[in-house]
Amino acid sequence: MNASSPAAHAQWLRERLREHAHRYYVLDDPAVPDAEYDRWFAQLQALEQTHPELRQADSPTQRVGGAPLAAFESVPHEAPMLSIRTETDTTAKGAEAFDARVRKELELGEGDAAVAYAAEPKFDGLALSLVYRHGVLERAATRGDGTTGEDVTANARTIDQIPLRLLGQAPALLEVRGEAYMGRADFAALNARQRQAGEKTFINPRNAAAGAIRQLDSRVAARRPLRFFAYAVVRWEPVLGQDAFTTAADAGVLTQSGLWQRLRDWGFAVSNLATRVQGGQGLATFHATIAAQRDALPFDIDGVVYKVDRLDWQRRLGHVSREPRWAVAHKYPAQEELTTVLEIDVQVGRTGKLTPVARLAPVFVGGVTVTNATLHNADEVQRKDVHIGDTVVVRRAGDVIPEVVAVVPERRAANARPFVMPAACPECGSAVVREDGEADARCVAGLFCPAQRKQAVQHFASRRAMDIEGLGDKLIEQVVERGWVQHLPDIYAVSEARWATLERMGEKSARNLMQALAQSRQTTLPRFLYALGIRHVGEATARDLAHHFGRLEALVQASVDELLAVNDVGPAVAQSVRVFFDQAHNREMVHALQQAGVQWPDLAAQADLSLPLIGATVVLTGTLPTLSRDQAKAMLEAAGAKVASSVSKKTHAVVAGAEAGKKLEDAQRLGLPVVDEAGLQRMVGEGLPPRP
Ligand code: IVH
Repeated sequence: MNASSPAAHAQWLRERLREHAHRYYVLDDPAVPDAEYDRWFAQLQALEQTHPELRQADSPTQRVGGAPLAAFESVPHEAPMLSIRTETDTTAKGAEAFDARVRKELELGEGDAAVAYAAEPKFDGLALSLVYRHGVLERAATRGDGTTGEDVTANARTIDQIPLRLLGQAPALLEVRGEAYMGRADFAALNARQRQAGEKTFINPRNAAAGAIRQLDSRVAARRPLRFFAYAVVRWEPVLGQDAFTTAADAGVLTQSGLWQRLRDWGFAVSNLATRVQGGQGLATFHATIAAQRDALPFDIDGVVYKVDRLDWQRRLGHVSREPRWAVAHKYPAQEELTTVLEIDVQVGRTGKLTPVARLAPVFVGGVTVTNATLHNADEVQRKDVHIGDTVVVRRAGDVIPEVVAVVPERRAANARPFVMPAACPECGSAVVREDGEADARCVAGLFCPAQRKQAVQHFASRRAMDIEGLGDKLIEQVVERGWVQHLPDIYAVSEARWATLERMGEKSARNLMQALAQSRQTTLPRFLYALGIRHVGEATARDLAHHFGRLEALVQASVDELLAVNDVGPAVAQSVRVFFDQAHNREMVHALQQAGVQWPDLAAQADLSLPLIGATVVLTGTLPTLSRDQAKAMLEAAGAKVASSVSKKTHAVVAGAEAGKKLEDAQRLGLPVVDEAGLQRMVGEGLPPRP
């Protein structure tokens, strides 16, 4: 682009940048590569540098924040920022009740048609009022007390979804209301950054958003990525002083849902969850539909908002005190509540890890009653500064386990006590150690610790391990507590008569359990290795070890170096396997299990050594022209190869398709043979290609 004058060039650049920023941030539909946008941006910055007179308040370069303020100025709201009545009945009845009230107030009878509503999510951020004069953002203000807010224009300018200049035809004056919020992913990333910098983290996205908007230094606000959804137009004056309702009617906009489109045309983001529905039934369905999506949304909502769609009806309904009669917020169950920490207990895990757990005064949050929450480890307790007796914010969102997000420091009682990690295991009294660089403290007693013993048995019996059906936690607790099971092999030594004497057991269930125990003796080497509960040996590692060594005896004798030769086995795993089999009592346990009848088919004997790729490890990367990834994998495995997920010195060949990335680079760097789909076909017939 070669404009005739710097002014025309600047104008051209501003328009391009505005258009493409809108496509990128609002429509989520970028039309030019980022690099192109960045080049235009740099050109405009350079132009404005050399020609300061070309710099305009609505230039896309003016979003970076400016000099810090001493305080926010108060601004009166021309139109009051109303609050909204909240329907706290979180069932469908709340929707029907609102519809009934509206119909009554509009004096609609049985015979009249269903009322149309504009139904929107209730965004969990903070309300902003945006005033545009001749299309240019003039002022952004918070709600404040509804009559007077704070001027946060400098911060609002840093929000990419707030247009600095309206798109298209702009009226002389426009006031838009909407919600500034922080997305969940941005919130998580911000908290991670704060934690890394040793700074305080935010409780939830709303607090983070409020903190950003109330930053006196707009350059700090610019680093807190906020977003904005528009949901109302309160002043719309083509001629100053004209009433918004009249303007809307003149423009053919008769409904709230019609306003959504206008707002979009001006360049605002309007949630695409906003839906026009019919009657109380429609509202109830909307409430349920959004509830089902709530946890998967990229932002927090705390309910939905229903608005009578027809603007003339809104007008007729008016408001009582500060709440409109034509709108209601219909909440969802809260995902955060306050409660008190009654105690901090320490739980001992299967591998001896000590976990502090907060015992809470029962609290209904996220749809369930929560009575405890993990605090993970001693560092976490310290970082959050949780004392016993504290009032805390508990959060439970979706299926995520309940979490203590923060302490309310003002509510700390005089007798609140700090938590101390015990020096002795609370279950067996053995020493507790915390190694350098480790977050976790551990009980050193291993299977001498009853807590670890119970969990070792639970793990051994679990479905993906020995799969002993009917051997549940309650039974395991009983046999361990009675001393019948001190070591894993003892499980196979408890008699049917003894099983039958346990709580909730009868003769029939004892017989079934004996049968399940008998069946579990026929297992596979991967399952058996996993069932042993060796630290760091999960299912996948157990499978890799079993297939690499083929026989248990070979694994028991393998050196750390030999273990390191196994794909995906690193130093921590190799060390842990070696340490496990170095201990005589573990070797004896394995022997005793075999004596008790546990057996598996020999993998080495089973492997067909005549397969062309036996013993080879192959990595797949990129997209192949005809084969799917699963098909390619199945072909390789049928030829005896193991298909691994990452490239290392232990890889024998890499099959690369289109858009292969880092794995291909790794292969080239390591000088490994790389083949395409045709090469794969050859390889499964003839064996590995030569090294390049
Ligand atoms: S309409 C007269 N729509 O809820 C009604 N409010 O309003 C004016 N809120 O803090 C508000 N999402 O910021 C409306 N889709 C939505 C909303 C919404 C969130 C917030 C708003 C205010 C509170 C009460």
